[in-house]
This record gives sequence, structure tokens and C-alpha cells, in this order.
Amino acid sequence: MVVIAVDGPSGSGKSSVSKAVAARLGLAYLDTGAMYRAATLWCVDGGTDLADQAAVAYAVRGMPLEMGVDPAAPTVHLGGRDVAAAIRATEVSTAVSQVATNLEVRAELRRRQRAVIEAENAPGGFSGGQGIVAEGRDITTVVAPDADARVLLTASEEARLRRRSLEVHGAADASAVEATRDQVLRRDRDDSTVSQFQVAADGVATVDSSDLDFDQTVDAVLAVVAQVTA
Ligand code: DC
Repeated sequence: MVVIAVDGPSGSGKSSVSKAVAARLGLAYLDTGAMYRAATLWCVDGGTDLADQAAVAYAVRGMPLEMGVDPAAPTVHLGGRDVAAAIRATEVSTAVSQVATNLEVRAELRRRQRAVIEAENAPGGFSGGQGIVAEGRDITTVVAPDADARVLLTASEEARLRRRSLEVHGAADASAVEATRDQVLRRDRDDSTVSQFQVAADGVATVDSSDLDFDQTVDAVLAVVAQVTA
């Protein structure tokens, strides 16, 4: 059983890189950001006032969330409904920080994330007991500080803006990059209450993907894993 924890800011490429690492190693994959997004959708759809911290925490504790951990086809279901697309909607993206900064919500999702990681420790899990790659913002520090490999995936602001611009606008010319700047920087600011990404925590390896292409980034993470699990 191996647990690989990957943290990073939005636009660092951590989701696609983590999925590829999991697929290469035959491990399960958990996108914890998707869990915060699902919690936000659950509250919005249920008419919960996002400013009411106690009501949000209560709603999230009762949330019927199912995370599918196959890295080739990860899934997110809420009460049996496939919400993979709905959790990426702008309405969720702009509200998610408000839910993610609720400490009771974090405690509940942390508990569920640890349960998923534990399940991959057992033969009945997706990976057959091989292990899991879990990615997010606080996996290396809070959710799985005892993970076998812990990686902070960073990228320069310029590289993150360029990637997000390509994702959203299909282009990375100056005007497209400018159009994504506000959104990316606002998200950084909102998320900064959860985590700081300037320096990696003790024992966490930093992989800077600014000048690496996708395959090189995957290889760099695999090299960290090989080093610590050798
Ligand atoms: O990675 P993402 O954009 O899907 O994350 C969505 C939100 O959830 C973002 O505001 C950061 C937050 N998040 C968090 O607080 N802790 C995590 N482990 C993962 C995500």
C-alpha cells in the first residue's frame, strides 16, 4: 500500500498530473477539490444559506456523496446523480471558497477523505490494496501528513495564467491571459486562508512545473515517488 499526497494551487496542473501518476502506478485517485465543490453544490441546490456556517456544516454532514476513484474515469455522485459537470459551473467555482473555509466542513470532509484512503489499504478497494494518489490543498499537511510520498506541485503565476487561459478560452494570447487573470488571482486570495504555497512543509518535495511539459511533470512526480518508496 502506498499513499501519495499532492498539493498545489489552481492551475498548477495537479489534477491531470495526479491522475496520470495514479494510472501509471495502478493506484486509486482522489480529487478532494471535487468534494469541496460537491459540498457547495449540495448546499446551493438545497437552498442552504452559505453565510450560515452552522447550517452549511449540518447540510454537509448529511451529504450523500460517492467518489469514484478510477483515475481513468473518476466520478462524483450526489444522491446517485452524476454531478461531475455541475460542480465545475461558475456558480460553484465562485462560491466554493466560502464553504471550504468552514472549519466544520473541513473536519467532515477530512474524515471522509481519510476513509477513502483507508479503503484503498484493503483488498476490496479499487486498487486492490495497492494504494492511492490524493490531491488537493491540505493533503500533504493535514489529511495525510504520514503519506509515503508528499509533493507540492507549483508553477509560476505566468505559467498558471497561461494554462488556465488555454483551458477556458482555448488560447493563451495576451488578451485571453488578461481575461483569466482576475479569476485566477481572486481564487488564490480566497484559498490563501486554507493554505500557503510559497514554501513546502517539512519533508514535502517541491516540483515546479513552470518550465516542464505535462509528461515531464508526471515523470518528476514519479521520480519523487520512486525515491521515497525505494
Ligand atoms: O482544486 P479545485 O479548484 O477543484 O478546488 C476547489 C476549492 O476547494 C478551492 O477553493 C480550494 C478548495 N480545496 C480545499 O480547501 N482543500 C482541499 N483539500 C481541496 C480543495
